[in-house]
Amino acid sequence: MIILSIETSCDETALSILKVGGSKQAPQFRILGNNVASQIALHTKYGGVFPMMAKREHGKNIVPLFLKTLKEAKLLRKSKSSLYTKTRLQKIERLLEREHELGTLFLKELPTIQIPKIDAIAVTSGPGLEPTLWVGINFAKALSTLWDIPVIPVNHMEGHILSVFPEKNKKTFAVKKIKFPALSLLVSGGHTELVLITDWGKYKIIGATRDDAAGEAFDKVARMLDLPYPGGPQISKYAKAHRTHSTDNPFTFPRPMINSKDFDFSFSGLKTSVLYTIQKLTLTDTIKGAIAAAFEDATIDVLVHKTLRAIEKYKIQTLIVGGGVAANILFRKKLEKIAREKKKTLYFPTKELSTDNSLMIGIAGFMGWQKKKHGVRQSSLKAQGNLSL
Ligand code: KG4
Ligand code: ZN
Repeated sequence: MIILSIETSCDETALSILKVGGSKQAPQFRILGNNVASQIALHTKYGGVFPMMAKREHGKNIVPLFLKTLKEAKLLRKSKSSLYTKTRLQKIERLLEREHELGTLFLKELPTIQIPKIDAIAVTSGPGLEPTLWVGINFAKALSTLWDIPVIPVNHMEGHILSVFPEKNKKTFAVKKIKFPALSLLVSGGHTELVLITDWGKYKIIGATRDDAAGEAFDKVARMLDLPYPGGPQISKYAKAHRTHSTDNPFTFPRPMINSKDFDFSFSGLKTSVLYTIQKLTLTDTIKGAIAAAFEDATIDVLVHKTLRAIEKYKIQTLIVGGGVAANILFRKKLEKIAREKKKTLYFPTKELSTDNSLMIGIAGFMGWQKKKHGVRQSSLKAQGNLSL
């Protein structure tokens, strides 16, 4: 089957077209088309993601990106005039009433496109920013109405878990047969979760942050250091510069909840501790580097320590890491060391797939489809900002 997948939960508009074959136990995927329009440059200018601004950008980007992806998949055929009845187009007009940019572009471009060989649409329904999620969902609903094909809602976090399977620079990949129980450490700008996986689709959150997400702490500390958004890569860059010049650090920060018996996290106190330290200082690049390194050490220490304890308690066989913070090199190295020592299989996404993308949504969509073999009713398709696994 061929799946179109859509991701608009935060600041990346992403669309993919995947062809799925192989067996039920080992599905094989071929990437026919895959594109991302990042809004990072815009949000860097304003120091963070403003939901209504992000929504407008998704609305402007999604139709052109869709046409580009269809073309890449060799599925784009245009007609000279509209292929649909007035009634059907009016239905779409009503559906997209509140999506101004998207509605205008959709009704201009889509009615003259011949129905491509796409069997289902997978779309992120949450968690994320509700205004931006709605753009993807309404686009999926409109396409589904136009072409009479089913829609599969996807949990963005399940997407991050499955993001580890595509390989760098390869057009084909498989969902590998892994040993359960597996543990997934999901660390992004919105989430920090430890998820126990007993089978695909069977998830239990055993620990989560009680306040800020780890990525969010990176972003906030970066802002305190006058470094641009997103903060994670900036903090790493400064921390690396510090470590290449010196082996010791005048700063140390607390490791909140590192010894608590549960698997929860807390990063807000760590962030405040950085703030108090900075207030007493004049920031130079050298000091920024030392603070960045001390903050990175503290955050990663807590993440790694709790992961290790969960591996032991739940007799974990496979460790899966996902989310934007998985791009952090120091974090990767520490987890690789643990996996080697404990003889566990470790999966990481490629750097490109650590952050939000639609390939992972297509994979999760297919895994969901395999179980139910049908989509959901349009009326039950909703943006769920706080959707949990
Ligand atoms: O998964 P993602 O793209 O979006 C969310 O769903 O939140 O994650 C984005 C987060 C941002 O907070 C960003 O600062 C962080 O991932 N990030 C990093 C690194 N690269 C991105 N954090 C630490 N080190 C990095 N190298
Ligand atoms: Zn994400």
